[in-house]
Amino acid sequence: MCSCNHEKSDLSLLDDVFKKYGNDSGNLITVLQKAQEIYGYLPIDVIYHIAANTNSTPAKVIGVATFYTQFRLKPVGKHLVMLCKGTACHVNGADGIEKAICEEFNIEDGGTTEDGLFSLKNVACLGCCSLSPVMMIDDVTYGSLTPEKAVEILHGLKKEAAE
Ligand code: FES
Repeated sequence: MCSCNHEKSDLSLLDDVFKKYGNDSGNLITVLQKAQEIYGYLPIDVIYHIAANTNSTPAKVIGVATFYTQFRLKPVGKHLVMLCKGTACHVNGADGIEKAICEEFNIEDGGTTEDGLFSLKNVACLGCCSLSPVMMIDDVTYGSLTPEKAVEILHGLKKEAAE
């Protein structure tokens, strides 16, 4: 394990994953997916642990984790806000929505709010263009947005979290 590693994850949570998928580096992507489900992202100590248990190297595991956009190397906020920047949403004002969210919550694409409540990620077409402009928060889709409506939705979630 890396001596410069400051993160301390409960690595025993991966025992069952290794039991099921073995120590074959051919299953690396599946193991990373399971690890991300468990930890919410891929902490560095988990990456070293996976490398050691899949006949791989940390460099290789990091290489795979950074190549595929589905993997996150940083923790995400409690709510993941995916703002569609596909063509239909772009034409219908996605940029204005992004600007409003960024200004109101002091956040930028790929970032997380200071309180850890929201992470913002611009994404390609979410597949519901007829509702554009669209954002998805966790697994809920919000359509026909305006900048005001988007900000209001996030404030609603913030209020809920505070209660
Ligand atoms: S472009 Fe946004 S849902 Fe298709």
